[in-house]
Amino acid sequence: MLYFGDCRLNTPNMLDQRIQIIQGDITRLDVAAIVNAANPGLLGGGGVDGAIHRAAGPELRAFNKTLGGCKTGEAKISPGFRLPAEFVISTVGPVWKGGNSNEAGLLGQCYYNSLKLASAHNITSIAFPAISTGVYGFPFRQACEIALSSSNQFLVQNDNIQKVLMVSFSEADFNTYLGIYTQVNSR
Ligand code: APR
Repeated sequence: MLYFGDCRLNTPNMLDQRIQIIQGDITRLDVAAIVNAANPGLLGGGGVDGAIHRAAGPELRAFNKTLGGCKTGEAKISPGFRLPAEFVISTVGPVWKGGNSNEAGLLGQCYYNSLKLASAHNITSIAFPAISTGVYGFPFRQACEIALSSSNQFLVQNDNIQKVLMVSFSEADFNTYLGIYTQVNSR
């Protein structure tokens, strides 16, 4: 069992084989949808948010203006415009405040609600960045464990989605993520 604070992650012994860990630039991935670690305004920012808006073009910001923002833990969908991906699913991760403000639950909701929205749009392949682990300061290892646990919880109940890529930008993050994935799968 994985624990995060007093939050027991009911991570199973084996992760669904559809989950894969990769390293790269999420804006270049030819998948049906990429997930953006956005802010509640959905109008762009730094980090992966900035990279996705730059690659998608100004149309993404113009479209997102019609969405009325997004609450932490929730997800909204838009076309991918100039991206290789057909769709962008924007979700807002929790800002890390020490771990006693339901950060784990809210981060889990980001993955679960993004997958739920993707499935509702018949999206079969989706890529996630490590939500909240940059500007929002969520400890990387715990964030990966929550990402894997929450995504797996959705996948065991859903056959539509065929591929879930967890994308690390740096090699160091990739090695950490892969280590956690392997550890969970070898229980
Ligand atoms: N491809 C994949 N992953 C990336 C890329 C990229 N091109 N660029 C950055 N990342 C990774 C970072 O290395 C980090 O692990 O995305 C993860 C999330 O980091 P941030 O982009 O800082 O997102 P987050 O921590 O969720 O903070 C969101 O930052 O940019 C603002 O508008 C955004 O206010 C929001 C906040």
